[in-house]
Amino acid sequence: MLLIGNWKTYVESRTKAKALYAAAKRLAARGHHEVGVAPPLPYIGMLTPTRPGKRAPKLVAQDIFVLDGAVQTGAVSVAMLRDAGVTHAIIGHSERRAQGESNERVAHKVQHASTQGLIPILCVGELARDADAAYLAVIREQIESAYQSVEPKFRHAIIIAYEPVWAIGTGAVITPDDLAEMVLYIRKVLAGVLSEDAAHTVQVLYGGSVDAGNVRNLSEGTGIAGFLVGRASSEVASFSALVQAAPRSHA
Ligand code: PGA
Repeated sequence: MLLIGNWKTYVESRTKAKALYAAAKRLAARGHHEVGVAPPLPYIGMLTPTRPGKRAPKLVAQDIFVLDGAVQTGAVSVAMLRDAGVTHAIIGHSERRAQGESNERVAHKVQHASTQGLIPILCVGELARDADAAYLAVIREQIESAYQSVEPKFRHAIIIAYEPVWAIGTGAVITPDDLAEMVLYIRKVLAGVLSEDAAHTVQVLYGGSVDAGNVRNLSEGTGIAGFLVGRASSEVASFSALVQAAPRSHA
């Protein structure tokens, strides 16, 4: 599975960042899972990435700036991130969308990341579920709008992270049945923006209160390829326990 720790603003010291990264290296070296970490920007440049490979942790950006060649005070370019060893970028996280990031802006970022050589991890998710299933239209719109500006040759590499907002940081976890249904729905939407075959090979991750206690349940029979983990990734013990509890292959 692909297990990515999104440290958000939980990690606020270099010592802790180094300890978490060292743990990610040990966990990745075991070769049971692909492991990634998304540190806050000050720590990204401080961590020394090992040579990329399946047994090295991936360095992931929590967000990107779209500069298109402009010089901007306070920004960080994708070229800088890549130079620091970053290979993936979380885009459209609900905590960014809550700060006013629109589907249009997310689409621009996905396109920018793709053309600049980063693999986008596109976050989608509904604020709440309703009896009429209107939330499905929200997910469809988030996916379709993000793909439309990306050249077809870059579309296959995009990873989707399904993160229902009501489950993020709340301890409310989706049921495996609802998750399985959502993965199927996401693939149906993807079949409209990719070929049917390609839609089946896209990695779909889940995020929202995942921990060592629920990771196995959420993996089995749901079609999930991995997890984007917030709080439980911010301590060495809880992240290590989670990676060890994840089943080696998903069904
Ligand atoms: P959480 O966050 O695991 O703390 O719910 C997940 C995320 O926001 O990616």
